[in-house]
Amino acid sequence: MNIGIITRNPNSWSSSNLIKAFESLGHSVLPFKFSDIIAYISQNGLKLLVKGIDIVESLSAVVVRPFGRVSLDQAIFRIDLLYALQDHGVAVFNKPSAIEKCVDKFRSLYLLKMYGVPVPETLVTERCSLALRAVDMFRFKDVVIKPMFGSRGHGSARVRDRDVLWEIIRSITFIRKTAYIQKFVPHKGVDIRVFVLGDRVLAAMYRIAPEGSWKTNIARGGKPSRIDKLDPLIEEVAVKAAKVLECDIAGVDIADTKEGIYVFEVNSQPGWRGLQEAFPEIDIAKEIAKYIVDKVKK
Ligand SMILES: Nc1ncnc2c1ncn2[C@@H]1O[C@H](COP(=O)(O)OP(=O)(O)O)[C@@H](O)[C@H]1O
Ligand SMILES: [Mg+2]
Repeated sequence: MNIGIITRNPNSWSSSNLIKAFESLGHSVLPFKFSDIIAYISQNGLKLLVKGIDIVESLSAVVVRPFGRVSLDQAIFRIDLLYALQDHGVAVFNKPSAIEKCVDKFRSLYLLKMYGVPVPETLVTERCSLALRAVDMFRFKDVVIKPMFGSRGHGSARVRDRDVLWEIIRSITFIRKTAYIQKFVPHKGVDIRVFVLGDRVLAAMYRIAPEGSWKTNIARGGKPSRIDKLDPLIEEVAVKAAKVLECDIAGVDIADTKEGIYVFEVNSQPGWRGLQEAFPEIDIAKEIAKYIVDKVKK
């Protein structure tokens, strides 16, 4: 089988492991970047050319690694390309509809809530005056302000001071960004990353924030610690969250607190370096590769 891996850097830890995993199963891999693609619409239909190869014709499946920082144009075009691949019979992991939902923190959160997955109380609005009124009306006192399209803990801040909160909301709305304001979930600097593959949990770990921080992202210095027996309720919620957002592969972030569990987000392009360190006995890249090959064969 010919598998494409869309990655900014084929030598990065996760991409290179995935490439090796597919190759060890006897498949050939074409790593490329979104920016390598020429989309050519002609009398004969659509070609998506990468280094002279039409990937619509030549690939059975494509795996999508993180987009990175892109403009709105690029983000939409990239999703369009994934839909085009899917429309022409190439299996895409994760599906474009899943990626589209997961990268959008508002859309993913309301969909999760709609299907009964617990999420933190959240306010989203474009207009400054409405945001200010709403934070008072719904008693948002200890909050996290996040970019609606963000990752790796970048750009989010915990705010407890009403004056500071008001000034931040003013600044965010002034530059035409959407104010995404979430109640702080008291989690003591630890949350749970559950790696879901299809309808099962492959492995899960605690992520322990650095001293004095509330962000548990590995990219922000969070430390992985394996969970050998995951609470069945958390397992169920994680699998459901991935399913609601149509992910085959997902990194689900969950806080387990005294007042209950909350899903922070579902990552549709999760890395697994921290998890791999915590579970040396599982070859995570190989599990992902096997899952994809099996699914494409079906
Ligand atoms: N409402 C919240 N209450 C407490 N901690 C939070 C809250 N939202 C996010 N965090 C912490 O910040 C981390 C990053 O937030 P998340 O929503 O996952 O955005 P990102 O896409 O930047 O990872 C979470 O894993 C969690 O540790
Ligand atoms: Mg996260």
